[in-house]
Amino acid sequence: MNLLVTAGATREPIDPVRYLTNRSSGKMGYAIASAGAQLGHRVTLISGPTSLDIPSHVDFIPVETAQEMLEAVKLKIGGKDAAIFSAAVADYRPASVSDSKIKKTADALTLELVQNPDILGSARHQFKYDGILVGFAAETENLETNAREKLRQKECDLVVANDISKKGIGFDSDHNEVLLVYPEHTRPIPIDSKERLAHTLLQAIHELKVVGS
Ligand code: C5P
Repeated sequence: MNLLVTAGATREPIDPVRYLTNRSSGKMGYAIASAGAQLGHRVTLISGPTSLDIPSHVDFIPVETAQEMLEAVKLKIGGKDAAIFSAAVADYRPASVSDSKIKKTADALTLELVQNPDILGSARHQFKYDGILVGFAAETENLETNAREKLRQKECDLVVANDISKKGIGFDSDHNEVLLVYPEHTRPIPIDSKERLAHTLLQAIHELKVVGS
C-alpha cells in the first residue's frame, strides 16, 4: 500500500524564541510509519518537530506549523491507499508573529489567536481524497461518542480513539489502549506497546482496503 502518515505536534511561533504547541511525543505516528515500512509499504511521513529518530525507508517531510503541514498533505495525499492523521495539530495560532522577542514590560499580556486549518477535515472535499481515511481522537470524556462524531464529520473510515485521562497510556508513554471506531461498530484494542498497536492498526486498514476493493 501507499501510506501517508501525519505525526508529532505542530509548532506555532509567537516570536523568534517562543511558540505554542500540543502535548504529543509523536511516538504513535512514528510507530505506524516504521511498521508500514517494515511491512514493505511505501510510507510518506509528514511530521512536526519531535525528539524521535526518523524511521528508516520512509519519505520524511519535516514541517513546523499547521499551515505547513496542510501544504505538505495537499501535495502528497493524491494516490495514497490510506492516509493516517495522527498529528497533534494546534487548533489555534497567534494572529501575528512578532519579528523581535516580546519584552516583559506589562503585568499582563494578551495573545490573539486565530483558527488553524483543519487538515483531516480538508481531506475529502478540499483535496478530493477518496482512499481510506483514518483519524485519531484524544478525549477525556465520552470517548466513543466523540470519536464517532469525528468519524462522521470528517468522513473517515476509521477513528482511533484514546482516553487521555487514563494514566500510563497515550501521550509520552510507549503504550496505548484504543478503540477502533468504525461507522457501524467499535472494536476495543487492549493495552499494548505502540509498536504492536501500529501493526494491529495497519492490519485493520488492510482489511478495510480488501473489503473496499
Ligand atoms: O484535535 P482533534 O481531536 O480534533 O484531532 C482529531 C483528528 O484530526 C486527528 O486525527 C488530528 O491529526 C486531526 N487534525 C487535523 N488538523 C487539525 C486538527 C486535528 O488534521 N487542525
